[in-house]
Amino acid sequence: MVKIAPSILAADFAELGAAVRAAEAAGADYIHVDVMDGHFVPNITIGPPVVAALRSTTKLPLDVHLMIEAPDRFLADFAKSGADIITVHVETCPHLHRTVQAIRALGARPGVTLNPATSLETVRESLPYVDQVLVMTVNPGFGGQSYIPTMTDKVARLAAMIAATGRTVDIEVDGGIDPTTAPMVVRAGATVLVAGTNVFRNAHGLAVGISELRAAANSALRTSGG
Ligand code: DX5
Ligand code: ZN
Repeated sequence: MVKIAPSILAADFAELGAAVRAAEAAGADYIHVDVMDGHFVPNITIGPPVVAALRSTTKLPLDVHLMIEAPDRFLADFAKSGADIITVHVETCPHLHRTVQAIRALGARPGVTLNPATSLETVRESLPYVDQVLVMTVNPGFGGQSYIPTMTDKVARLAAMIAATGRTVDIEVDGGIDPTTAPMVVRAGATVLVAGTNVFRNAHGLAVGISELRAAANSALRTSGG
């Protein structure tokens, strides 16, 4: 089954707890938390205290996406705050093998991610060690951007790379995911769909946003026989 991970970046930050509870009630599988430092990406969002506060509002796994330089400095803080999955950008980690092991040693599930222009070869050597690879389908930093169409083929190539390892590794996609783009990425092999705008700013409400994404993902699985 494809998992839906609403990104709270698009939620009302003054009512974050309510937004997370509503997403859980509407059937979300993870809560996706976008951490930005104003250096790696041109935007600043939230840090470990907010993750800790969210931890007390939901039982859902907190899927923490670190868009920060030198993330090793903060892995322990995020793990202690209750992050279940910690994903780091390959562009920020010169010692990625060590970073991924550190996340696992802290009791969290390690993920790696890469920008749209970064080659899949940068994650190949980490596939035996991670639980998730996040394919950025927009340039990180902001919600509400358009899906980059060439990322569909990148997801398909990553799926083949993972299949060759014989391991189960989730493929997450993030950026511009809606009922039109979701079937394309699911057919290509995506197993976790992050969506901010389409869930928290959906004109028909968040529950409709989640159920439309799930229906789009399921229809793609049926037509691809997956
Ligand atoms: C972008 C973030 C995304 C963002 C997705 O840097 O990593 O998680 O919230 O937002 P939408 O779904 O609006 O493209
Ligand atoms: Zn994200």
